[in-house]
Amino acid sequence: MKALILSGGKGTRLRPLTYTGAKQLVPVANKPILWYGLEAIVAAGIHEIGIIISPETGAEVKAKTGNGDRFGAQITYILQEQPAGLAHAVKVAQPFLGDAPFVMYLGDNLVQGGLHDLVDQFKRKTLDALTLLCPVANPSAFGVARVDAEGRILQLIEKPQQPPSNLALVGVYLFSKAIHEAIAHIQPSARGELEITDAIQQLIDWQRPVEAHQLTGWWLDTGKKDDLLEANRVILDTCTVACNQGEVDARSQISGRVHIGQGSKIINCTIRGPVVIGENCHLENCFVGPYSSISDHVSLINVDIEHSVLLQGARVTNVQQRIVDSLIGRRAHIKAAPQRPQALRFMVGDDSQIELV
Ligand code: TTP
Repeated sequence: MKALILSGGKGTRLRPLTYTGAKQLVPVANKPILWYGLEAIVAAGIHEIGIIISPETGAEVKAKTGNGDRFGAQITYILQEQPAGLAHAVKVAQPFLGDAPFVMYLGDNLVQGGLHDLVDQFKRKTLDALTLLCPVANPSAFGVARVDAEGRILQLIEKPQQPPSNLALVGVYLFSKAIHEAIAHIQPSARGELEITDAIQQLIDWQRPVEAHQLTGWWLDTGKKDDLLEANRVILDTCTVACNQGEVDARSQISGRVHIGQGSKIINCTIRGPVVIGENCHLENCFVGPYSSISDHVSLINVDIEHSVLLQGARVTNVQQRIVDSLIGRRAHIKAAPQRPQALRFMVGDDSQIELV
């Protein structure tokens, strides 16, 4: 069995970060989102992995993720010239996939609980497609499945106005080689993309065995800021282990699970976990509250922050109000005068959002 991870796309919902970087490399608990999927695939015993990349962000994904050695896998990068849909990505990957059955994993999704049960169900029942489904409160925003009592999928509908169930398609699918023939038979949708739901529907129409597997744990799609912060909260909650490889002075108070990376200096700070702090950071006179992820080379001076993600090299100085629910990009710089500021002065990139609450 092989795997195909989709790490192309446009990432419009995460602008402006995605103007300069791949959304799949945005860190959750200081690890790129993409790597969680990669690790889950390897843990399920799959080692031949293709990663779909775009012309804009492919080089960055390749440079960061490498040839797979660090994950115990062989990675092949596959360029998709245009983000023409999930089924289009499979089409572009066909030379890599050959006739092998494969897992398709959306590179901006996080799924709890591993892939063992899915792979087992797929193999045991010799299916042509198996999709992961998760009950959601707002099914109209997703691809939704109608499923019979035995778990067979009867119908898939994209963003239905009257959803037949609350079971949304989660970003993990398993396919036999039959999917390639189904993709060859479908046309682009109204939004101009080759939709994977149309290809699966084609298999259903041909009465091929297509089943669902209901997820019991959480599923997080990190496509938007608030989803990303939620993913960060859940991962920090479940995965953070207290560990101090940096320098913490005697005036600082650290409580709960806090990970501090090598070379980081913590001076007169209060830090309440779960929190991860990367390498070579400088934190001075700060309060860092729960669910904060601070990447390498971040500097925070005279700042209160919680439930936020700061990317590499961000600098925040002298902000008097607490910073909450924030996503701060690489090398972004926020500074205020040490006394109460009389005015706000901005240089803000396209599609940025600032809320003074
Ligand atoms: P989406 O989040 O559906 O699409 P997107 O990345 O273009 O994002 P946005 O809606 O914010 O513009 O894509 C799911 C995953 O699949 C994501 O990791 C990107 C990837 N993808 C491809 O690799 N190729 C494609 O053609 C598309 C549509 C998505």
